[in-house]
Amino acid sequence: MARDLAGKRAILTGASGGIGRAVAAELVKAGARVALAARSADKLTALATELKGGTIAVPTDVTKPDDRRRLVEAAVAAFGGLDLLINNAGVGSWGHFADSTESICRTVMEVNFFGPIELTRLAIPHLTNGTAPAVVNVTSMCGRKGMPAWPEYSASKFALVGMSEAWRGEFARFDVDTLTIVPGMTDSGFQNNWLRTDGKADLRFADGMTPAYLATKIVDAIRRNRTETVCGSEARRLLRFNRWFPRLTNWLIARKVKKLYSKR
Ligand SMILES: NC(=O)c1ccc[n+]([C@@H]2O[C@H](COP(=O)([O-])OP(=O)(O)OC[C@H]3O[C@@H](n4cnc5c(N)ncnc54)[C@H](OP(=O)(O)O)[C@@H]3O)[C@@H](O)[C@H]2O)c1
Repeated sequence: MARDLAGKRAILTGASGGIGRAVAAELVKAGARVALAARSADKLTALATELKGGTIAVPTDVTKPDDRRRLVEAAVAAFGGLDLLINNAGVGSWGHFADSTESICRTVMEVNFFGPIELTRLAIPHLTNGTAPAVVNVTSMCGRKGMPAWPEYSASKFALVGMSEAWRGEFARFDVDTLTIVPGMTDSGFQNNWLRTDGKADLRFADGMTPAYLATKIVDAIRRNRTETVCGSEARRLLRFNRWFPRLTNWLIARKVKKLYSKR
């Protein structure tokens, strides 16, 4: 089923920057009305002013229950209902597990997993009454292949991918679709917000997708109602290679880690 985005009523988290900001612009271009959510109130207000088109700015920390409730209430009050929930807010942490902390792990899980799933729980009664409704979860290629130096992040995204798969069956009874976006590296400024930055590898975000390009792919996936969309050639290559040659992939990754972390 193709989904017409004109007039759709959406909540978009992580809208203050990077990929979310670009998705907001694409959604508005397609005629959707969008409740822009993130913690940075000033950035959201500036974006809502720039985009116009019935956007509202709702400062929200997705890890806070009261904020999540306020966000859903504000969107429903402003738009008269809800058709799309796009769980995009996220945080990364780049460093090995053995010298990481419980606090980092819990923060990553709160932002990337518990926040979006509890927001979805609040949104479902409204989505159920929506038009061609969908929950869209922005995960990561790390949610399909756990990567070294991304242990907490990979776990959080795997959890969201798994939840999405379960919801797909469950939410069918409400006629609410669940779409999973699996992006590869994107030059969004993501690395400026990581909780740790001491991983060792040559990560070239500048060679990744632009947020604007990824946003067109995300909005296209929503339009075409694609169950799972892997975005970015490097993500597609890695996941395909891993599917056909899992042992070789793991061996190559382990060899790389040993080399990077060798004392010599
Ligand atoms: N960039 C990549 O290479 C890449 C690859 C695969 C997947 N992704 C995923 O894409 C999504 C967007 O990432 P990005 O690259 O655009 O990163 P980003 O530039 O760091 O943007 C993250 C967004 O999430 C918001 N956010 C963070 N913590 C939040 C919280 N507690 N409550 C509400 N909003 C919060 C931030 O806004 P505030 O700081 O204002 O709250 C910001 O708008 C994330 O889920 C990320 O995991 C990114």
